[in-house]
Amino acid sequence: MVLLLQNPLLGLVGMLFWLCVLPWAKGGKVLVVPMDGSHWLSMLKVVRELHARGHQAVVLAPEVNLHIKEEDFFTLQTFPTSYSQEEFDNDFQRHNQMLFKTQHFLKTLLETLANLKRGSELYYETCSEMLHNTALIRHLNESSFDVVLTDPVFPCGGLLAKYLSIPAVFFLRAVPCDLDFEATKCPNPSSYIPKLMTMNSDHMTFLQRVKNMLYPLGLKSICHMSYDPYASLASELFQRDVSLMDILSHGSVWLFRGDFVLDYPRPIMPNMVFIGGINCANRKPLSQVVLLPFSCWCYS
Ligand SMILES: *[C@@H]1O[C@H](CO)[C@@H](O)[C@H](O)[C@H]1NC(C)=O
Repeated sequence: MVLLLQNPLLGLVGMLFWLCVLPWAKGGKVLVVPMDGSHWLSMLKVVRELHARGHQAVVLAPEVNLHIKEEDFFTLQTFPTSYSQEEFDNDFQRHNQMLFKTQHFLKTLLETLANLKRGSELYYETCSEMLHNTALIRHLNESSFDVVLTDPVFPCGGLLAKYLSIPAVFFLRAVPCDLDFEATKCPNPSSYIPKLMTMNSDHMTFLQRVKNMLYPLGLKSICHMSYDPYASLASELFQRDVSLMDILSHGSVWLFRGDFVLDYPRPIMPNMVFIGGINCANRKPLSQVVLLPFSCWCYS
């Protein structure tokens, strides 16, 4: 402001610049590739806001799904799948029932792993069918989208963006196995950054640090099981070796639905933005204060 008063000419030039640029600041075309379930319920609010700001959103989803239904603020583009709604619902029911069963810990663990495997296979099948749907890919390619908005926990959106040569914006609560650190080459010192499910804090004793290093090894095999197929699928599409990291590093911006009130501080890269609180739009005062390690449930 002081600069403007001292130099009115500079202010005038600035104003002219904005007047010239503004006419080009029009709405973009956004291809949304959501992860179903609670992930989609968070993203839905962003799609509504994008629409309100004059952007055009097309949401791409399998015909058979859980929560992704037509709304008036986006165009829903569905594609067929080889499994029926009934099979899908049965799988989901089985998973829900297991959560409330009381049985031996080992049995629960084995069933959880089996369900996880089945779930990963189902999502992978969906992705493979979508990317092999030549009519759909041709249509999406011709639609010339400006950006893909997707949750990288389901790497299909990132892969599609790479395939169509469109920039991708990742919208996520978290990804397992520190894939976000690895894909963005973000520093990740395990002596200071508590790993998922260790219940460690950012101040660890020697033994906690050892635990912090050992825990991720177990998760790694689950990540291999769930994510390796996407690298094979990508390699087939691009006719060359493509890794999961090649897919995830296609993300231009990572929007994290968290912040350092809820999560421990961690290193971040310049293309990471913390947008925690986006799920707290309909906030209500707490009826009472309960001190639990995870007392904020508004981020899902
Ligand atoms: C998209 O269209 C361009 C231009 O026609 C073409 O070069 C490219 O191979 C197409 N991409 C896919 C994934 O089909």
